[in-house]
Amino acid sequence: MHHNPISITDLSYVYEDGTQALQEINLEIKATERVALIGANGSGKSTLLLHLNGLLLPQTGGIVVGEHKMTPKTLKEIRNFVGLVFQNPDDQLFMPTVWEDVAFGPLNQGVEEPGLTDRVKRAMAAVGLDFHRYAERTASNLSGGEQKRVAIAGVLAMQPQVLVLDEPSAQLDPAARRQLIELLGSLPLTQLIATHDLDMALDLCSSTIVLGQGRVVFSGPTEQVLSNPEFLDRYSLEPPLCYARPYCQIEHAPCLSTPALASAERMG
Ligand SMILES: Nc1ncnc2c1ncn2[C@@H]1O[C@H](COP(=O)(O)OP(=O)(O)OP(=O)(O)O)[C@@H](O)[C@H]1O
Ligand SMILES: [Mg+2]
Repeated sequence: MHHNPISITDLSYVYEDGTQALQEINLEIKATERVALIGANGSGKSTLLLHLNGLLLPQTGGIVVGEHKMTPKTLKEIRNFVGLVFQNPDDQLFMPTVWEDVAFGPLNQGVEEPGLTDRVKRAMAAVGLDFHRYAERTASNLSGGEQKRVAIAGVLAMQPQVLVLDEPSAQLDPAARRQLIELLGSLPLTQLIATHDLDMALDLCSSTIVLGQGRVVFSGPTEQVLSNPEFLDRYSLEPPLCYARPYCQIEHAPCLSTPALASAERMG
């Protein structure tokens, strides 16, 4: 187990059209920690995540993943170590069946039968997909939430040390979102989760990194930053709902006995 499985030093990145997407990023992700990566649209979250399994390579600065410095030569080791779940399952799922989608990663790692089927079954079970019901289906015919589970299963089947997820709860219905939160909370893996779902960040992540225009503007305890509305506002973020509506924090939330609602009830 690596103490800091991901270490980023002075990382900057400019896209071909001249857009400066990341500027002098310095970060350490600790082992088994769940970290939220938040920031307004265009703040650089996806660009940062694409660096973590070498889909983008550092132009300036460096990244060390496990024991490996990220270079074109270490990409295989790095992709075994870091599993990236894309925001859009269409970018990840392209095989004729769910079975083949989930088996794709381990097959490329050289895993053979009977270990391969075992990996696929375990990964599908971990994300709550019934093997017999889903193995032969086609991912493109599944619902958004089911597709997301297949995408996560495909990454889990590679048995990474670090799970990196880009907007995992986007487009999920409330029940699927809750199941996802429970799933991620149950996985004993280091996780970095880019999200606009700040209630999920609060539920799952002890630490949070805030990006503003490609720079790290905060890195520390999640509660500290999410309970600071002035700071959040500066970076076009809004407090999680449970802070915006403090009565929801109270056990047995007395929603119906708050003065406004009580008088509304009387009027009704
Ligand atoms: N392929 C690209 N070519 C040029 N610029 C890009 C490209 N991809 C992203 N950018 C720019 O880089 C910056 C960071 O984009 P990025 O997608 O990393 O933001 P993000 O924080 O993930 O945003 P969102 O919350 O909308 O997903 C933005 O200014 C964006 O316009
Ligand atoms: Mg993004």
